[in-house]
Amino acid sequence: MSQPERQHVVDFYRRHPISREQILARLTAQRGHLDDLAPEDLFEHDQDHYGGLGVVDLLAQRAGIAAGVRVADFCAGLAGPARYLAHRYGAILTCIELNPERAPGAADLTRRVGLAGRVRVVRADVMRVPLASGCMDAVISQEALLHVPDKGAVIAEAFRILRPGGRIAFTDWAEHGPLEAGDYRTLWEGIAAQSIQSYDGYRGLLAQAGFRDILAEDLTGQWGAILEQRFAMYRKLREETRRLGTPSGDEAFYASYARLVELVQSGRLGGVRITAVK
Ligand SMILES: C[S@@+](CC[C@H](N)C(=O)[O-])C[C@H]1O[C@@H](n2cnc3c(N)ncnc32)[C@H](O)[C@@H]1O
Repeated sequence: MSQPERQHVVDFYRRHPISREQILARLTAQRGHLDDLAPEDLFEHDQDHYGGLGVVDLLAQRAGIAAGVRVADFCAGLAGPARYLAHRYGAILTCIELNPERAPGAADLTRRVGLAGRVRVVRADVMRVPLASGCMDAVISQEALLHVPDKGAVIAEAFRILRPGGRIAFTDWAEHGPLEAGDYRTLWEGIAAQSIQSYDGYRGLLAQAGFRDILAEDLTGQWGAILEQRFAMYRKLREETRRLGTPSGDEAFYASYARLVELVQSGRLGGVRITAVK
């Protein structure tokens, strides 16, 4: 990834309406203070993917996550799913997150709810993961690999850090056929989508890395409705974040999101949940 491309992805999340500051401002407004926060207090605010806690449970099932299971969350964001998996399942999480504000933001939210012993945050690029080979039982990721130019490198890194028999389970955008050039440009400018895999493309990359038992579930139908609701949530959040003085996203984000909803609802772009075993 070139430096300007990396910076575009970083800047996109710097402006993103879901931020540590926005979550803390909301909690302060709701509770009057930030003392004695519990993990459950955050779950309504800190899940930056499509489908909320229900889909994190599904991913946990696919990845074999249970008490004591060592999990790497690739592109962990503010670590919402990681904290949920540590709290609800007793798993041990390592979050890999590129953004220089989101990584410390994730660590701060984790400390505030007393989960720092089970959720650690490493600021790094998922194309070069600073973890030892074979040290993880599971690798997960949600709605993030669209930002990463070399999906093959990410999948090879997941394979390397998993123990034999370890599982990968992730969700991402996937295209049903090539989009128009203008759509790739819109999705890059507004949502920092570097490249989009096809369903077969993902299967091929996993097989090439050495994964077996590859399952690809088409989520396009479910995502159509979820994205519409999410877009409405972002439009509301835009007003709220402006009032709070926290990042609101820019015009390109909202224009791009509108196009994303259309592309998914018309079935040209979709979602996929991939599961595989090392
Ligand atoms: C949509 S958020 C998903 C966050 C989290 N998975 C969740 O569900 O709440 C995508 C995250 O991927 C991160 N990211 C993008 N490119 C990355 C890379 N190459 N390496 C690590 N993190 C990256 C972004 O900074 C952002 O925080």
